[in-house]
Amino acid sequence: MSGFVFQPLNIGSLRVDWPVFLAPMAGYTDGAFRSLCLEQGCGAVVTEMVSAHGLIRHHLRTEHFLDTWEDEQPIGAQIYGSDPGVMAEAAAMVADLKRFDFLDINAGCPMPKIRNRGDGAGLMRDPAKMAEITRQVKAAVAGTLPVTVKTRIGWDADSVNVLETTAGVEEAGAEAIFVHGRVASVRHAGPSDWNLIAEVQRARRIPVIGNGGVKVAADVFRMVRETGVGGVMIGRVALGNPWLFRDIRNLAAEREPRRPEIAEVRAAIHEHLRRELELMARRGKRELKLGAELTACLVLRPHLVRYLRGFRGFGVLARTLEERVDAATLLKRVDAVLASGRRQGA
Ligand SMILES: Cc1cc2nc3c(=O)[nH]c(=O)nc-3n(C[C@H](O)[C@H](O)[C@H](O)COP(=O)(O)O)c2cc1C
Repeated sequence: MSGFVFQPLNIGSLRVDWPVFLAPMAGYTDGAFRSLCLEQGCGAVVTEMVSAHGLIRHHLRTEHFLDTWEDEQPIGAQIYGSDPGVMAEAAAMVADLKRFDFLDINAGCPMPKIRNRGDGAGLMRDPAKMAEITRQVKAAVAGTLPVTVKTRIGWDADSVNVLETTAGVEEAGAEAIFVHGRVASVRHAGPSDWNLIAEVQRARRIPVIGNGGVKVAADVFRMVRETGVGGVMIGRVALGNPWLFRDIRNLAAEREPRRPEIAEVRAAIHEHLRRELELMARRGKRELKLGAELTACLVLRPHLVRYLRGFRGFGVLARTLEERVDAATLLKRVDAVLASGRRQGA
């Protein structure tokens, strides 16, 4: 794509200069990974989803999800739940932290234990409640944080109702909508319906950010071209590849994207672990039964699979990933994999 320029996106009072978002991904997008993506050119990030109930009850583990690395901006906090009063109270707590730039309502999580309680994707089955939550959350944070909603096109193929749900949240005061172009029943499999994302874009006055199905950097521009959305949100393809955001910037500036050198991958993994260690060290002993170091190594594990999949020695590391090892041992194993070089074609 030559010379593509994103228009800055206004989400209420927030201006996002480069509206390429890292999607919230539970178990992955903590402060360590988000900050690495921002440093590579990502335009905005969102926390993993945080339970509104857990927040108002001050569960330590829940509050940890709202921890951030320094200079993470712009950043949204995402909360989930289905009780409007609880969601509003949790939203006010998030606003009080003064650490976030927007508040996002999760209306798309398809995990059975979430959706079956009526939370996450469950909200799509009750558009009136989805709107009411938006209204109450908005009232609770009025004047402090713009409110956004992240949702899907429907519950399943027979109940695609994204035009109805997004009309409701727009009317209730949402300042932007993230639309994942899949139904909840397929979770993350199969294509994302960009035609429907385009329909939502045409029907709504507030900004629509498209999500689902970006596989390579150029897809971001294709999605904008094909749907007219004002921003794009990227999930899985960014895991183990924060350089994707650099590629997107390079493509926009008519520069060739370039694969990270092995030394860059090594530096990123070492830095990723250093940040996890620091984030874990902030948490109390009572909360981290395994201790900060071991917990940090466990959190890094799924990322390592993504960073190192294309390397010859990855299989050896994969067989030992279940072992609980300290940071120095883990990094030594990582370095051995990197030294094995990339597999042909990887
Ligand atoms: C492991 C994983 C965890 C996720 N966690 C969340 C979450 O906490 N909140 C949310 O709104 N979406 C979550 N999602 C959905 C993503 O934000 C995104 O909508 C989805 O992956 C589609 O984008 P993609 O095709 O670019 O991956 C998660 C997805 C994955 C794969």
